[in-house]
Amino acid sequence: MDWLWALALGYFLGSIPFGLVLAMAAGKGDIRQIGSGNIGATNVLRTGSKWLAAVTLLLDLGKGYFAVWLVWQFFPLAVPVAAFGAVVGHCFPVWLRFKGGKGVATNAGVSFGLAWPIGLTYAVVWLGVLALTRISSLAGMSSVVAAAVAAAVLGYDQFIPVLGGIAVLVIWLHRANLKRLTQGTEPRVGGKK
Ligand code: G3P
Repeated sequence: MDWLWALALGYFLGSIPFGLVLAMAAGKGDIRQIGSGNIGATNVLRTGSKWLAAVTLLLDLGKGYFAVWLVWQFFPLAVPVAAFGAVVGHCFPVWLRFKGGKGVATNAGVSFGLAWPIGLTYAVVWLGVLALTRISSLAGMSSVVAAAVAAAVLGYDQFIPVLGGIAVLVIWLHRANLKRLTQGTEPRVGGKK
């Protein structure tokens, strides 16, 4: 039963659609109707508001971290389940008919919550690829894979299955981005093509 509670708690925290709520509250409208239709920080940035995107990023990251941290206080064994629940909640929120984001920011928080060296690897790869390419999706996919690899290389074997599973899910959710990447049409952050 504790496992189910951990999954449910992770899911419901992850399912809070901060990007959508913030954009609406700021009078930017429904971000599902612009850009990629994603509810994450990258698409919030397409409203033209950098600070709104930054707050979305922090809150999406924070809910992933908080889900892991909270479950760790009561049932450490179930932490991977809560981590998976948080990312799934962000990607498939019941409140939005299961159409949410792509999990990159939430998985960053999850990674920091599981083990700070994994989180640090995630952040370095994410920011590094973003700085080099200005392509958010490529940075995101690189970082989710890096987190699973970091778990293996740094000796956090207990987190390999969950981070590996999340990486598969997040990359699958980026299939339209992958198609654009191969066609050379994926937009770059900052407007450069
Ligand atoms: O975190 C989402 C990002 O990787 C891609 O977002 O809106 O460009 O599909 P988007």
